[in-house]
Amino acid sequence: MAELFFEADDLLDPKTVRQEVKEARMSPGVVVVIGVGGMGQSIARRQGAGRKVVLADFDEDLLSTAAEALRGEGYDVAPHHVDVSSRTSVTALAEAAASLGPVAEIVHTAGLSPVQAPPAAILAVDLVGVALVLEVFGGVVAPGGAGVVIASMAGHGLAPLDPEQERALALTPADELLDLAFLDRYPGPGSYGLAKRGNQLRVQAASAEWGDRGARINSLSPGIISTPMGQQELAGESGAGMRAMIDASAVKRLGTPADIADAVAFLLGPAASFISGTDLLVDGGVIAAARSGRVNPTR
Ligand SMILES: NC(=O)c1ccc[n+]([C@@H]2O[C@H](COP(=O)([O-])OP(=O)(O)OC[C@H]3O[C@@H](n4cnc5c(N)ncnc54)[C@H](O)[C@@H]3O)[C@@H](O)[C@H]2O)c1
Repeated sequence: MAELFFEADDLLDPKTVRQEVKEARMSPGVVVVIGVGGMGQSIARRQGAGRKVVLADFDEDLLSTAAEALRGEGYDVAPHHVDVSSRTSVTALAEAAASLGPVAEIVHTAGLSPVQAPPAAILAVDLVGVALVLEVFGGVVAPGGAGVVIASMAGHGLAPLDPEQERALALTPADELLDLAFLDRYPGPGSYGLAKRGNQLRVQAASAEWGDRGARINSLSPGIISTPMGQQELAGESGAGMRAMIDASAVKRLGTPADIADAVAFLLGPAASFISGTDLLVDGGVIAAARSGRVNPTR
């Protein structure tokens, strides 16, 4: 019977228990959401409960409004201004995030679309910005961590590139990407599709290095999603074509930010522990409709 009784030494010191509980609570780590527009805010809400959430965006007013809204809902938010097209700025963001705890999740949603900006700005933000975030956060992501880069179905709709161009987009150092001569062949809205195809290739290439740290990275390519950007595109020149694409698709509706947040949660979570270096197309079947000839993609 003696073995049924604990010795006094076996009892845990309450201070030790409190410390362990505190550490366990801290262990979910830091979630970094870059770009706090429609998708970014929805993703922050989906991933952020009980964790430190670093919200980062170029637009200071939007950043403080989003941070206040999430704080009001009980999230522990640290806002940080960033320009993803600047290496210095992305490095400062990564350092700030790492100073708050292990960086467990990074979701990169910052981007500009053709109705919002000219091709040069699209390439600087959507192409170079993603390359910088992959490189810099690849150096701070915690073992067991994961990242998602939001690309676009436009990357799937782009006419195929030749293998040398694909290799160049995947592997050229971030600071030299804008010198690639073939970028000049995409002077108009096509620069967006090219940048997004570049995102998919870049994520694939970066996944091995992220894996060396015990972390995963994937891209997610949304279809037409009802965010400020999506609504601006629908109101613009290509809006009629986009509606035709939705009508011809399997799901026949606009995507919601929550559709994307759910898919991001899957890619970041344990159910996706065998998935790295790939792209998940979340478009309600628009690209499938285009490939089967039911509709011509507008771009
Ligand atoms: N909405 C759609 O239909 C759709 C479809 C496919 C892909 N996407 C992509 O999804 C991502 C998220 O888009 P969204 O719909 O949430 O758009 P959004 O316009 O609501 O949010 C994008 C955010 O990126 C920020 N941003 C722009 N330039 C930046 C910079 N240099 N540094 C830091 N932040 C910057 C903007 O301030 C904005 O808050 C983008 O990459 C976009 O290209 C959107």
